[in-house]
Amino acid sequence: MPHARRDHGTGFVRYNETMGTSRTVVAPDATGAAEAPRRARAIAVVLGLAIVSIAIAAATRRTRGPSSPAGRGAELAVSLGCVACHGPHGAGGVPDPGARAGFVPGWDGPTVATFARDEAELREWILDGRPRRLPPPPHGARAKPALPMPAYRGRLTDIEIGDLVAYLEAVSAFGVELPDPVFDGRQLAIRLGCFGCHGPAGIARTPNPGSFKGYIPPWDGSEWAELVHDEAELREWILDGRPERLQKSAVARHFLDGQALQMPAYRAFLTDDETTRLVAYLQWLRAR
Ligand code: HEC
Ligand code: HEC
Repeated sequence: MPHARRDHGTGFVRYNETMGTSRTVVAPDATGAAEAPRRARAIAVVLGLAIVSIAIAAATRRTRGPSSPAGRGAELAVSLGCVACHGPHGAGGVPDPGARAGFVPGWDGPTVATFARDEAELREWILDGRPRRLPPPPHGARAKPALPMPAYRGRLTDIEIGDLVAYLEAVSAFGVELPDPVFDGRQLAIRLGCFGCHGPAGIARTPNPGSFKGYIPPWDGSEWAELVHDEAELREWILDGRPERLQKSAVARHFLDGQALQMPAYRAFLTDDETTRLVAYLQWLRAR
């Protein structure tokens, strides 16, 4: 404690020197004037702690991985190079001379079901480059594909394979019967380009400089509860690009206005009926 006191005093003398006033050392507790540096130091400590905790929060925000298996699968598809051939987010593959279809099949849409009959075959595609049921390429193709599907056996843990399969199933709606409005809503989301930013099925954490989290929050993430309180707000997000509640909050507005990628307002592009179908699709995704 005496050490701390001494610091206090020296600081106070220096302060007075620079201010060109007294050179006298005043016992910190003796007069009211000694309160000022003490308060200044307390404020500095509080500010310092605040800055440190904000920095820690920012760092953990950015480094914490996605919480859902499908979300982890989405990031694995990037880190394992799958998207180099199967396209961004695995949606819409690149041209592949010699391949059956002339291009690498994407994972979104009904294609996956034509390549894999069940979950076990999805695993075989990933581990062996093809399911046991199919002969080695070029099955039906004129030549060997230029970009053959690699066999990832030995490169993945069981959990990683499970995460990849969860992602494939989510983006392809594999083996899932979609009710009509949900199916239509999904088609609308594809047509309107929602998946460009949000990724197929809204799972991607697309980097977004200047945003609160540093990325666009995925639809299956924990952020949803804060961003979308109810169906009315979901409509506002789609029609106006943000709900009225967040628009009214100065802090929320600061982040929403400051981010590089902005949620578009689709009001001019949607009929009431289409909005209802989009909402049905998003609610169906959330309920899964
Ligand atoms: C070098 C290019 C390339 C890479 C990298 C690649 N694939 Fe493939 N993949 C292909 C090709 C080509 C086919 C189609 C093969 C055929 O028709 O026999 C395919 C087929 C598939 C299929 C079945 C068809 C479909 O699209 O539904 C799945 C599932 C799949 N790959 C998953 C993955 C996963 C997961 C990764 C990463 C871990 C990956 N692929 C990495 C080229 C690639
Ligand atoms: C240009 C990129 C972009 C496109 C295209 C886009 N969004 Fe967004 N979306 C965003 C951003 C950015 C946010 C804001 C998230 C934040 O920082 O709070 C957002 C937020 C949302 C939210 C709030 C909940 C959440 O978890 O993100 C919903 C719901 C949503 N978008 C739906 C859609 C739908 C439906 C479409 C297509 C009709 C679409 N978005 C198209 C960028 C986009």
